[in-house]
Amino acid sequence: MVPNDDTLFDKVVNLSKRRGFVFQSAEIYGGFRSTYDYGPLGVLLLRNVKEQWWRSMVQLRHDVVGLDASILSPPAVWQASGHLANFSDPMVDCRDCGARHRQDKMEDPDTCPSCGKSGSLTEAREFNLMFKTHAGPMVESATEVYLRPETAQGMFVNFANVLNTSRKKPPFGIAQIGKSFRNEITPGNFVFRTREFEQMEMEFFVPPADSEEWYRYWCGARMEWYLDLGMPVDRLRLREHDADELSHYSTGTSDVEFEFPWGWDELEGIANRTDFDLKRHAESSGTKLEYHDPASGDRYVPHVIEPAAGATRTAMAFLMAAYDEEEVNDDIRTVLRLDHRLAPYKVAILPLSKKPELIDPSNEVLGLLQPHWMCDYDQTQAIGRRYRRQDEIGTPYCVTIDFDTLEDRAVTVRDRDSMAQERVPIDALVDHLTGLLPA
Ligand code: GAP
Repeated sequence: MVPNDDTLFDKVVNLSKRRGFVFQSAEIYGGFRSTYDYGPLGVLLLRNVKEQWWRSMVQLRHDVVGLDASILSPPAVWQASGHLANFSDPMVDCRDCGARHRQDKMEDPDTCPSCGKSGSLTEAREFNLMFKTHAGPMVESATEVYLRPETAQGMFVNFANVLNTSRKKPPFGIAQIGKSFRNEITPGNFVFRTREFEQMEMEFFVPPADSEEWYRYWCGARMEWYLDLGMPVDRLRLREHDADELSHYSTGTSDVEFEFPWGWDELEGIANRTDFDLKRHAESSGTKLEYHDPASGDRYVPHVIEPAAGATRTAMAFLMAAYDEEEVNDDIRTVLRLDHRLAPYKVAILPLSKKPELIDPSNEVLGLLQPHWMCDYDQTQAIGRRYRRQDEIGTPYCVTIDFDTLEDRAVTVRDRDSMAQERVPIDALVDHLTGLLPA
């Protein structure tokens, strides 16, 4: 057990770098602050988080379809959504040390958190978080465009396109996973708050009278998703916003929060956004964004329930929740107890030695398993050290090929959590692992 404090934070950040989950971006040039690159293991973990979200939100449902909208978008979209006017945080500067801070995140609004000086801070100014750039070759004539600060607007802007082409009718949803960009004043806590990050958002369009019921449904369903993937129940909570925290258009918002080493913080927001977004885009674009029910003749603007999660932030939370250390034979074993669906590699193939006679059957086993699962292959070092290296990156099963394999065509399958080993014939290996690694 590792205490849920700075020790855990440092250990996870250290492991991430040492084993290739997350690297500081542009590190060889001194690093680009608060921007990160996902290494060979991180990219697999992040893909698995997104894949599990897509599976639960799109694949296993008949009422949600997918979308991949553009990242660059014209000002009209952000004018209508309210982001140009309101997507800002209050920023203060310290006259003494020059540091910039987000006023609403400061414990004491009169004291600079960087240098501790009190009374040195400027009045708060609203700072818009959107990144602006130019599209077109000539800066003078180029059009101003924005990098999206959320994926959500892509779903509202495409509401009519999807409605007309997918034959869906409310209640139905549009889901999207992709990068978003915010010029955060105070990025930090590793990949928790960054300027470039990935979101997993779904807009669920419902008849207005059913919106409260669907809001409650999605709060429950989203909590269940994290728990099903192994989040400990005592480190996850649903926090309903007080009335004074709600956006003016929302009739209800709840955050899924995880207990990070620095305290409870948000992984996802689930909001009842009413008809605000569709109405704003309809007014601004002059396009009707409503549903016409051919059976009843009713025409209405659907209300929207939005579960909006962060993929990068959630991957980090799963890493923190999975990190464990235990004493084994007077030694400390580090093990990532990730759910097998999230683990970067599902199986590691480990020939007991580098002797040529073991390499052929090892390659045979690798070829047998690779079409089914992401596999690692490692023939260096003593077998005990290799087991530990796999434990540390969360690989649920190791398959060892030894000299007996040459006689009995069987291998040893070792379980990450219990460290129990069993002998399995190569011909039965795919079926055996399929039973242990369900989709
Ligand atoms: N469409 C609604 C929306 O974007 P949000 O609460 O601002 O809502 C949703 O963002 C989720 O996106 C957050 O719960 C968080 O997980 C993630 N997120 C937001 N800003 C982030 C940042 N700067 N870095 C990493 N993740 C972020």
